[in-house]
Amino acid sequence: MSTSIRHYLQFKDLGAEEYAHLFERAAFIKRKFKAVEKYQPFADPDRTLAMIFEKASTRTRVSFEAGMYQMGGSVVHLTTGDSQLGRAEPIEDSARVISRMVDLVMIRTFEQAKIERFAAHSRVPVINGLTNEFHPCQILADLFTLVEYRPAPSGKPLDAIRGKVVAWVGDGNNMANTWLQAAELLGFTVHVSTPGGYEVDPVLAGISNRGCYKVFKDPREACRGADLVTTDVWTSMGFEAENEVRRQAFAQWCVDEAMMQLAKPDALFMHCLPAHRGEEVAAEVIDGPQSVVWDEAENRMHAQKALMEYLLLGRVA
Ligand code: CP
Ligand code: NVA
Repeated sequence: MSTSIRHYLQFKDLGAEEYAHLFERAAFIKRKFKAVEKYQPFADPDRTLAMIFEKASTRTRVSFEAGMYQMGGSVVHLTTGDSQLGRAEPIEDSARVISRMVDLVMIRTFEQAKIERFAAHSRVPVINGLTNEFHPCQILADLFTLVEYRPAPSGKPLDAIRGKVVAWVGDGNNMANTWLQAAELLGFTVHVSTPGGYEVDPVLAGISNRGCYKVFKDPREACRGADLVTTDVWTSMGFEAENEVRRQAFAQWCVDEAMMQLAKPDALFMHCLPAHRGEEVAAEVIDGPQSVVWDEAENRMHAQKALMEYLLLGRVA
């Protein structure tokens, strides 16, 4: 295995300056897309992305697949059910084989340990398309969206992020963990409010500086003064058996208009989607003027194109 391979398994796998580069490249790639101008850095030679889904997906699949084709590459799509992964072929063997045939692998699976094992035996870069613990591609897109909507006077992407307050209302899940990693790395604060028993765990989240987040019992207090309010489903994929228990535990953790009123007047609302109106978010918030969820979803593709470009080609001017 080559030691020069860069994987993207957690948000902290890249440094702050690399994120600044990715946000600039994502903006360039998005401008090209909007102008209907081709940008195909992978066309010569062809590059192939293997996508492995062990959980359902709409945005992650479409954004990676469309993005790769738009950049001139190709895609192979595998699921647990239609590959030998579902018949207990060891993940290490799958990694050895798949990574001999493609240039890049994206995996959506359950335990983070599984993607780490795949990456350890892969000859090519591996991207985390969501695990139980992390969802780094989503936060990459969310921060790119924040930079687009609230650019810094300096024009520098990281200046638009540094010092901001992000309110996280809901489950201490893969999204919450990734927000904490981003806050530690890029210098902003997350106000976290979860029901008892669903708190974030800084060790699991992989952060060492607990100053990057503050815990609030009352979700309204978490939203007070926030630049961005964000939430996610009460029950993540893989936890469906807890659905009813969670529905009761999370009843007070619905982002509603009253919570948005406590945030800054120009606060944005984000949700990684899929959303459940009337559960984690009120319809008037997700469908209201502060919501940027559709741009956030579209930005998955632009941000991930920048990520794939970086992992395959390095810094492109
Ligand atoms: N936000 C997100 O990852 O969506 P999908 O589950 O549809 O891929
Ligand atoms: N936390 C959610 C995110 C879905 C994109 C889940 O893991 O199901």
